[in-house]
Amino acid sequence: MKLLVTGGAGFIGCNFVRYWLQRYPNDSIINLDLLTYAGDLTNLTDVAQNHPNRHQFVHGDIGDDRCVDALLAQHRPDVIVNFAAESHNSRAVLNPRIFFETNVIGTQTLLELARKHRIPRFHHISTCEVYGDLSLDSPERFTEAHPYRPRTPYNASKAAADHAVNAYFETYRLPVTISICSNNYGPYQHPEKLMPLFTTRALEDKPLPLYRSSHNRREWLFVLDHCRAIDLIIQEGRIGETYNVGSGIEKSIEDIADTILTTLNKPATLKTYVPDRPGHDRRYLLDSSKIQRELGWEPSIDFESGLPDTVRWYAEHRGWWETIQKKAGDQMVQEEAWSGQR
Ligand SMILES: NC(=O)c1ccc[n+]([C@@H]2O[C@H](COP(=O)([O-])OP(=O)(O)OC[C@H]3O[C@@H](n4cnc5c(N)ncnc54)[C@H](O)[C@@H]3O)[C@@H](O)[C@H]2O)c1
Repeated sequence: MKLLVTGGAGFIGCNFVRYWLQRYPNDSIINLDLLTYAGDLTNLTDVAQNHPNRHQFVHGDIGDDRCVDALLAQHRPDVIVNFAAESHNSRAVLNPRIFFETNVIGTQTLLELARKHRIPRFHHISTCEVYGDLSLDSPERFTEAHPYRPRTPYNASKAAADHAVNAYFETYRLPVTISICSNNYGPYQHPEKLMPLFTTRALEDKPLPLYRSSHNRREWLFVLDHCRAIDLIIQEGRIGETYNVGSGIEKSIEDIADTILTTLNKPATLKTYVPDRPGHDRRYLLDSSKIQRELGWEPSIDFESGLPDTVRWYAEHRGWWETIQKKAGDQMVQEEAWSGQR
């Protein structure tokens, strides 16, 4: 099988590319990525070395219809897996426009060209944040039938992309599937995202910036369990369907900070409290029974070992994240930058 993976130089995309090439030795991947601040070819160094003939990197924009048209005409992939996105809620508060350009228009560009070239499958990666948030004491979980109630520009752009994907199924019968995943953690996540941010700050003995609502919770899934779910959906998922993918494991920002500090043997005094990001969702929790029931998926990495292992990965790959931090320079989003946004 030949896959076109978009955003494969980012966090989940590079883990997926690595996973797929290891698991399917006869398959090949075209990896289309714009290499924004979030994408980096150092995330793929081992992939390029280990699979020189089965992984081809293409520097380009999913919203560039001439580039995507030419790629699809040349390679005729069996599947498009669309990870490419602007993905950081905090950045979306400061500069929402690029989120709509990439996440909505970029996705629609891919859909339109997938239709033109009759690509047999379009799999789209979405996020639990499209459903809105839950109160901290709610007994509810989001099922796939839950209405979309996005509350931030990032979430709204992802929700709009999902609507576009579903519209291409309903209107043109483009063979689509969508996976809606909870928060991921694991290696190669950009150091401005929560877990790598706290870990790298702790490693440097610098303060960890916790939002004041530090008891807000997220559902956490190890990135390779997400990759396995996408694999199953591509192989066995029903066309036109959406599948939630979550572990059921919820942790607060406070829990995450504490576990990271304990793993690294650092003092709790490194925790500092900063104003919440505007629109900061309190909580998300997915009902993932559909993918469990229909496809037999379940998470294989438990949080108790997955988080410390991830923290150790960052401790052992200091050169990787220091290079990414240096590249970002003063473009790294500051979690204290909210004043004046509302
Ligand atoms: N990280 C999570 O916890 C999480 C959870 C659920 C869903 N998701 C979704 O998974 C996908 C990947 O997330 P991530 O955390 O790996 O993001 P990321 O920000 O680490 O990576 C995004 C990648 O997309 C590339 N990109 C951005 N704009 C592009 C464009 N116009 N054309 C081509 N490439 C472009 C970037 O260069 C980068 O390599 C996103 O769609 C995100 O919404 C993420």
